[in-house]
Amino acid sequence: MDAPAPTAGPIPTGYFRWEPEEDDVLICRAVREETHDVKTFVFAPRNRRQFEFISGQFLTFEFEISGETIHRCYTISSPPSRPDTVSITVKRVPGGPVSNWLHDEFKPGMMLKATIPMGTFSWSGMAATKYLFISGGSGITPLMSMTRSSYDLALIADIVFLHAARSPSDIVFRDELDFMARRNRSIRPFHVVERDAPGEPWSGLRGRINLDVLKAVAPDFLEREIFVCGPTPFMDAMRTVLRGAGFPMTRYHQESFNFEDFTEEAQEAIAEAQAEIDSAVKTYRVEFAKTKRVVEVPADLTVLEAARRAGMRLPSSCTKGVCGTCKSKLVSGTVDMKHGGGIRQREIDNGMTLLCCSKPTSDLVIDR
Ligand SMILES: Cc1cc2nc3c(=O)[nH]c(=O)nc-3n(C[C@H](O)[C@H](O)[C@H](O)COP(=O)(O)OP(=O)(O)OC[C@H]3O[C@@H](n4cnc5c(N)ncnc54)[C@H](O)[C@@H]3O)c2cc1C
Ligand code: FES
Repeated sequence: MDAPAPTAGPIPTGYFRWEPEEDDVLICRAVREETHDVKTFVFAPRNRRQFEFISGQFLTFEFEISGETIHRCYTISSPPSRPDTVSITVKRVPGGPVSNWLHDEFKPGMMLKATIPMGTFSWSGMAATKYLFISGGSGITPLMSMTRSSYDLALIADIVFLHAARSPSDIVFRDELDFMARRNRSIRPFHVVERDAPGEPWSGLRGRINLDVLKAVAPDFLEREIFVCGPTPFMDAMRTVLRGAGFPMTRYHQESFNFEDFTEEAQEAIAEAQAEIDSAVKTYRVEFAKTKRVVEVPADLTVLEAARRAGMRLPSSCTKGVCGTCKSKLVSGTVDMKHGGGIRQREIDNGMTLLCCSKPTSDLVIDR
């Protein structure tokens, strides 16, 4: 979709609630290159109004790519303190349909459909003044929104910002973090890289984030509110380190972008978990009509999770019933679905279901 060119004129002041019916189409105003495989896309609303959201929330976008409608979630990387636009920052995923389309085809002036901001991964309303933000790869985006907000509003927040990247050239927002840190001493960024970049040997922290790294960057980490976002194995490792160090996990918060792990190790773990499923739980036969796969799904597991454990890769994003990515046609059978707004009543009436939050209550045939 192409949008009309922006017009000059005053922007209304004051905050207006995001109206899904009115602001569901966003216009891309700028595309910025952050690293060799990360770009930021800046959006304005179609009608003149300001955005209202909480740092850490995400949007679900609808894409039409090669004749298919696909949904994906992207965290808002810009802060609510800059309400005239919203930005998302997207990492190119090898072979991924949407991230590559955004990088290669999506240009300023084009438009996208988006739902209202959702998600609860945020420091909003917290009384703590000391934070430790830990991110891996594109998991930096919610933490960047919070940090930008703190900088803009001069909040009394002591932020240690620890980011893990493959190499120095993969560090997203490096200049901006350094800039904020120079001007606001209570923002302290640290980067940990696995290897040098061509032409840029790294003299800083190296390897993976472990207890020694935490102690080095934030000796008082046990007193901080900790927010973590990154790939699943990364977050698992952080939880293990923090638990081992006696960190009170009530002050631990994490957001998953749900990067599935299809390594051999992960597959073995999935197989083990499958084997452990309580045989007392009733199991239903779920047939995927297009791929001709059949999976036995226990009544206490969602169809998506059971399929994942069986090694199937079905489309999914939020896994919380809010984004609609896993929406599928139920050809026959019944499910118990507890969704979070990612499906409309008329779609349910038409036999659609969200596989991430649907447990079988009979044998099923699904059009996938
Ligand atoms: C709540 C939420 C917020 C998100 N916010 C962001 C964000 O701010 N920036 C961002 O780049 N992505 C974000 N994502 C991931 C995003 O929704 C897409 O999954 C991603 O852009 C890949 O889409 P794709 O269609 O290109 O590839 P897909 O077909 O979706 O993915 C291909 C494979 O790559 C894995 N993968 C997906 N995303 C990544 C990634 N970023 N890094 C490494 N592996 C990945 C998938 O698990 C899959 O195995 C978010 C996801 C969720 C659920
Ligand atoms: S994955 Fe988002 S609704 Fe199912």
